[in-house]
Amino acid sequence: MKKIGVLTSGGDAPGMNAAIRAVCRSAISRGMDVVGIRRGYNGLINGDVFDMNLRSVSSIVQRGGTLLFTARCPEFKTEEGLQKAVKTCKELGIEGLAVIGGDGSYRGAGDLSVRGIPCIGLPGTIDNDIASTDFTIGYDTAMNTVMELVDKLRDTSHSHDRCSVVEVMGRNAGYIAVNTAVACGATAVICPEKPYDIDVIIEKMLRTRKVGKQNFIIIVAEGIGGSEQIAKYIQEKSGIEARATILGHVQRGGSPTVRDRVLASQMGNYAVELLEKGIGNRAIGVRGTQLVDYDIQEALKMKKPFDDAIYNLTDIISI
Ligand code: ADP
Ligand code: F6P
Repeated sequence: MKKIGVLTSGGDAPGMNAAIRAVCRSAISRGMDVVGIRRGYNGLINGDVFDMNLRSVSSIVQRGGTLLFTARCPEFKTEEGLQKAVKTCKELGIEGLAVIGGDGSYRGAGDLSVRGIPCIGLPGTIDNDIASTDFTIGYDTAMNTVMELVDKLRDTSHSHDRCSVVEVMGRNAGYIAVNTAVACGATAVICPEKPYDIDVIIEKMLRTRKVGKQNFIIIVAEGIGGSEQIAKYIQEKSGIEARATILGHVQRGGSPTVRDRVLASQMGNYAVELLEKGIGNRAIGVRGTQLVDYDIQEALKMKKPFDDAIYNLTDIISI
């Protein structure tokens, strides 16, 4: 391929910029032209694109968000929308695309690939809910942000002998929740993958209070939600003052961690290697330290294993 495009789609994630930079620089260093596409698949449908050069991606490796902007594009789920995107690619001579996003974006990339525009999916989401990779771009940064914020909440919980119920993002997945629960010394974690009994958690709080524990962190995944009600119930049942905090979109911002910058850079370069060979309809992932790629439709069918050991660890060591 001589000319490729790059876009970010779905929710933004720290490290997307590092991935864009890697795609752009890797492609230019191989003699290819690169087009930046704004606001996800909308940019393809509306022709909102610009030619990128080496300096288009200067000083962005350290920045959160995405310089290409991102969006959700319902029109892209229709045949008409897809055909408009194909037309834009043909008119502009875009022979392949690097699509950075979550599984919804992968579906779009698969649909476009079968219509003659080979796409490579790069996993960009804080949720880590993509089965074809151990880690997604943005996940590590989001977890570090959660950790920093929960550490701050612990200061005030400690001062008031309170329970802090903290709701973290993850859509329907509990990966952020279970890992940050361990990292923040939570008493319990409530996530969609596991059944829970709030009364058992309260019993544990009361039991551990008898042996000197004075403040409590309960991490709730957004897939469960209802953190306000959970805090109210805990306070009523246990007599321990409880406050709910929904961390929200702050988890999606900020400067990416080393891990996310490196992962994004490796994946961006790998995407270009595949496109240069004319390969499309692949989803890039990492297994251990090894970069891998799968057929997009196969990738979308995969199931991500849930780490029971990490889930159980919170309960084992927070006593
Ligand atoms: P994410 O990529 O983070 O999972 P979404 O699920 O919102 O986020 O998907 C992002 C975009 O991908 C959608 O707005 C749409 O443009 C495109 N997309 C999602 N699902 C499909 C689909 N089934 N077919 C084609 N495009 C899709
Ligand atoms: O997929 C990333 C994510 O932040 C999820 O954790 C969350 O459920 C969702 O996006 C929020 O989406 P929005 O930005 O549309 O509120």
